[in-house]
Amino acid sequence: MTTTGSASPYDPPADPAASAAAAAVEQTPPRTDRRVVLVTGASSGIGAATARRFAAGGWHLLLSGRDRRRLEETASGTSAVLLPADLAAPDGAKMLAEAALREAGRIDLLIAGAGIGWAGPFLTMPHTDIDRVLFLDLNATLHLVREVLPAMVAAGSGRVVLVGSVAGAVGVREEAVYSAAKAGLAAFAEALRQELRGTGVGVTLIVPGPVETGFFARRGRPYHRTHPRPTSAARVAAAVWDAVSEARDDTYIPSWLTLPARVRALTPGLYRRLLDRFG
Ligand SMILES: NC(=O)c1ccc[n+]([C@@H]2O[C@H](COP(=O)([O-])OP(=O)(O)OC[C@H]3O[C@@H](n4cnc5c(N)ncnc54)[C@H](OP(=O)(O)O)[C@@H]3O)[C@@H](O)[C@H]2O)c1
Repeated sequence: MTTTGSASPYDPPADPAASAAAAAVEQTPPRTDRRVVLVTGASSGIGAATARRFAAGGWHLLLSGRDRRRLEETASGTSAVLLPADLAAPDGAKMLAEAALREAGRIDLLIAGAGIGWAGPFLTMPHTDIDRVLFLDLNATLHLVREVLPAMVAAGSGRVVLVGSVAGAVGVREEAVYSAAKAGLAAFAEALRQELRGTGVGVTLIVPGPVETGFFARRGRPYHRTHPRPTSAARVAAAVWDAVSEARDDTYIPSWLTLPARVRALTPGLYRRLLDRFG
């Protein structure tokens, strides 16, 4: 697992003002008049649907995922640039950010959609899977944000969209590590938003409930609950579009999912009793 420090491919944390200034100097001139969005997880599901929504809205797309063929499907009919990358590789996020900035000269919006799940009793979870889920869903996302942010701050505008999960808001049984990773992302979003106040750069946390994508097949266990019912990736994409257009901080999809999150935050005892009763 990648750690920060001298052994990391990532630089140790630097003075933000100095990093922003350095980024401004290193930035190459913009190569497009259109706004530029870098979407990770663009080869499938939520990322693919969101990329298509932003293409329809006139944005220039930089699309990332591992599967080039499926990235080409997402890009079909657009002028998108494909930047295949394995974000689980130790320097994957750094290389992707560098390639994106080289390609487009700037990134106006990062939509960090790449993610994986794992379901089953925590007591049976292999250590390698703990690392795999935490690394991709949390660490790699944070490193990618760390890489793209200085140029946004230097430009005085931009937005980072993080794809969390309702699991991160309430904690879901037999998705303990996934819940932990998404809760980490939510706390990161909150903290980063405060740090970036006044810079012109915003942070949006997207909090979907279950969504009909390849996510469940890939994690090896289908979605089996009767509620909440899975929603479509297109609906999540529309919500991301609205959240970016309106510079929103958080968006739950569907919106009623804020309710269990609020009950848990305000009255955890009641929330647990309701869980015991209704599952
Ligand atoms: N589906 C749901 O119910 C649901 C609910 C809440 C939140 N979410 C979150 O939404 C996000 C997107 O999930 P989804 O439902 O769209 O799932 P998905 O269809 O399985 O898509 C996952 C995406 O992540 C990419 N990815 C996986 N491993 C990667 C790696 N090592 N390096 C780079 N990219 C990698 C995949 O790219 P390749 O296929 O090219 O490897 C794919 O594009 C995830 O963060 C997930 O946690 C999903």
